[in-house]
Amino acid sequence: MLGSAAGGGFPQWNCNCRQCAGLRGGTLRAQARTQSSIAVAGAGPGWVLVNASPDVRAQLAAYPELQPSPRAAALRATPLAGIVLADGQVDHTTGLYMLREAGRPWPIWCSESAHADLTRGNPILKLLEHYCGVDWRRIELGGEFVVEGVPDVRWRGLAVASKPAPYSPNREHPVPGDNLALVLEDAATGRSLVYAPGLSEIDARLWQAMQAASVVLVDGTFWSDDEMQRLGASSKRARDMGHLAQSGPGGMLEWLERLPAGVRKILIHINNTNPILDEDSAQRAELARRGVEVAFDGMEVRL
Ligand code: MLT
Ligand code: MN
Ligand code: ZN
Repeated sequence: MLGSAAGGGFPQWNCNCRQCAGLRGGTLRAQARTQSSIAVAGAGPGWVLVNASPDVRAQLAAYPELQPSPRAAALRATPLAGIVLADGQVDHTTGLYMLREAGRPWPIWCSESAHADLTRGNPILKLLEHYCGVDWRRIELGGEFVVEGVPDVRWRGLAVASKPAPYSPNREHPVPGDNLALVLEDAATGRSLVYAPGLSEIDARLWQAMQAASVVLVDGTFWSDDEMQRLGASSKRARDMGHLAQSGPGGMLEWLERLPAGVRKILIHINNTNPILDEDSAQRAELARRGVEVAFDGMEVRL
């Protein structure tokens, strides 16, 4: 896990909430977190970058296995075989600007609707044509794909209910594919992980994938539906922003409680306002009681 925070990171540059101020001031027991991204490897040396965070430079700098191999013959080299995007939002795509020096067109997997947003409201894919170029691979909803260079991981993109970015024409009327859950399967063992950083509802198809998985890595943005409203940070509820809160009736914790025993449950894409980031909070203790983990930068999961 390269970045376990939601957009804004933790602490957020301009935020004076109890947690951001407490982390800066050294009075809060918590870890800083960069913005939303994971990296996936199979048995070989290749890696897949999943979401390109604004913090991608620092994230790559933190892991030698994501850097050019000292044994690589080429002047410019990367173990990153391709990039998979869960949506076209700022926190998942801004890192593409920082990866423009690639020596070949980036193979980038995303849905049709994310691709539309990334060539219009946030035209980063068009911009990249002036640098490394883009080798777009369309994610067919529900279809399987493999990233060349990482052959032992099978991927599926499931359309999930959430929200595309404010610059998307679909913002208030999302279409299937604006936001994906990614199901990653180890081709050798059949064990799978569901990664869904943005999720406002759990539908039957996603629930089936979650129940069949060994690990679920799901939307941990907000503890309560009115978290941002109560802080005065936004007039919107979590659901209006495309995120299912953890607490309350129908919340994420109720869903996770119903998963089969043995499924590893991890929250990711955590907003800086979420009290689970405070390691001394009652909410964090409740997660521990329920066997729900909180992702942190540098956390490693083996399937
Ligand atoms: C979200 O997940 O709701 C967005 O990424 C928020 C943002 O733009 O930071
Ligand atoms: Mn986000
Ligand atoms: Zn804050």
